[in-house]
Amino acid sequence: MATFIVLLGPPGVGKGTQAKRLAKQTGLAHVSSGDLFRKHIKDKTDLGVLAKSYISKGELVPDDLTIAMVKERITCPDCETGAILDGFPRTPVQAEATTAMLGELGEELTLVPYIIAPEKVLIERLSGRWTCRASGHIFHTKFNPPAKEGICDVDGSELYQRDDDKPETVKKRIQVYLKQTSPLVEHYREEGLLIEVRGDQEIEEVTKDLLDALKK
Ligand code: AP5
Ligand code: MG
Repeated sequence: MATFIVLLGPPGVGKGTQAKRLAKQTGLAHVSSGDLFRKHIKDKTDLGVLAKSYISKGELVPDDLTIAMVKERITCPDCETGAILDGFPRTPVQAEATTAMLGELGEELTLVPYIIAPEKVLIERLSGRWTCRASGHIFHTKFNPPAKEGICDVDGSELYQRDDDKPETVKKRIQVYLKQTSPLVEHYREEGLLIEVRGDQEIEEVTKDLLDALKK
């Protein structure tokens, strides 16, 4: 049986940061729907052009497009032993599709860590975030600064600020999260898969809590 984990939580809570750390420590693949869309945008694919029109407004990309993109990704060989899903599923329809696509692989979800932090923490984190152009490594001017300003520690590529980290778009993303994604918390709680993790701790502490939850 493979291990499939969904990292649930609002924008800026640290899903990407933790997914990368967990992937490194567990050997599981990191599947980020946001990173996949940003790659399409960078490559100017049809999906990228369409996705950009939603992402720049802080809205969700339609379910059918998102589901098809993630389904293709999780059938890649590196997901055979499992994956950490970051930013997907994000709607009840996507949650249903997740069960179905894992079912087709003879798999099911292992755990859904729900990372929580107050809204003011989310806003502070997103306003100081810098992301690496090549592979999406994540930094923060105050909480996780790169050794050299503007340069990724991991691969030396340029760091940039995401377009959707503008204050008005961040507010919209949080609203969209509360309306469209937060119902998944109760859904996964009822399924017995949810575990709450405090996101307003040091990065290393959050990773430790996540690894402890996985061991159980
Ligand atoms: P996506 O890229 O998934 O963005 P998001 O969910 O809004 O989440 P973020 O990436 O902003 O935050 P995060 O939780 O990953 O935090 P991070 O680790 O970076 O989606 C973007 C857009 O794509 C969506 O708005 C939507 O349009 C579209 N999309 C994506 N998936 C979709 C789907 N399934 N369906 C439809 N549309 C979809 O951390 C944030 C900052 O905080 C960083 O600077 C980091 O260094 C810092 N930090 C992290 N942890 C800590 C800590 N413990 N202490 C201090 N600082 C910390
Ligand atoms: Mg992210």
